[in-house]
Amino acid sequence: MTIHPAPLTSAILQLKRERNAVILAHNYQLPEIQDVADFVGDSLDLSRKAAGTTADVVVFCGVHFMAETASILCPDKTVLLPDIRAGCPMADMITAEDLRAKKRELPDAAVVCYVNSSAEVKAESDYCCTSANAEAIVNNLDRDQILFVPDQYLGSYVRSRTGKNIELWPGFCPTHMRIQPEAVLARKKEYPRATVVVHPECRPEVIALADRVLSTNGLVTFAGTSDAEEIIVGTEVGIIHRLSKENPRKRFIPASDLAVCPNMKRITLDKVMTSLRELAPEVRVPEPVRSRARLAVDRMLAAGRGEYAPRGRQL
Ligand code: 13P
Ligand code: SF4
Repeated sequence: MTIHPAPLTSAILQLKRERNAVILAHNYQLPEIQDVADFVGDSLDLSRKAAGTTADVVVFCGVHFMAETASILCPDKTVLLPDIRAGCPMADMITAEDLRAKKRELPDAAVVCYVNSSAEVKAESDYCCTSANAEAIVNNLDRDQILFVPDQYLGSYVRSRTGKNIELWPGFCPTHMRIQPEAVLARKKEYPRATVVVHPECRPEVIALADRVLSTNGLVTFAGTSDAEEIIVGTEVGIIHRLSKENPRKRFIPASDLAVCPNMKRITLDKVMTSLRELAPEVRVPEPVRSRARLAVDRMLAAGRGEYAPRGRQL
């Protein structure tokens, strides 16, 4: 029997109350998931929300590393990922063993890992970062050499902004790779007055065509505060739902209709309801990996509060 979205949404809200749960959704989630969520945001925002919640259960509508980050920050809570197969191919491009081998090659480098990485990789890293704070975290580092994993494009963008000596890992996001410079040029021709905003996971040739390079929340803030009436959006297309909802008078044009992350789209209302009913699938990061990974994540959150924690110092 197919349950229509409205009763399904009511059933989810009812179960959510019974479970004392909070629903967190990434900006790339399907529109109906964004609409049922308590918070919609980028990776940084959602990890802050997870860290601050008083709920017993966190339903993470996103991908596996995001649910892991919530578990790292909230070990006493039940963290659910409604489809356990929702992974991130970029996060899978480096393992803890790969990173340990690279660290042996570069023993003096500070290791900065993009949040799009496994808990095991975070546990081997000195600092975590997201696309919203990567530049600030790297800028704050008083180190001669930095190893940045796994996104080579975010890493090279940060290198171009900070001038730091950054060694890159050859990872990438297959979804952002589908945004080709030719597509952006064609959109610019079609909408000559539009502002081009792209995510730093895009390839450098696309970044070179952009007016602004921003995280997904950065893009939401920009859309709400700038005078731009037309924005060409160089990131996963799911964000257009939130942008249009919050700015009904503005026009948002996807840089490429091919920029769809199949993993983000695995989360459906049906699966959210089932996971709340069954309290599964659960994502729980075991010790000692959790505590080691937490140091890197806490250093990132501390940097956002203006605190600086050098490597090796407990927060
Ligand atoms: P942000 O929302 O943190 O900018 O990240 C984009 C992303 O690719 C998440 O997987
Ligand atoms: Fe991973 Fe890219 Fe999907 Fe984000 S958009 S979850 S980086 S594959």
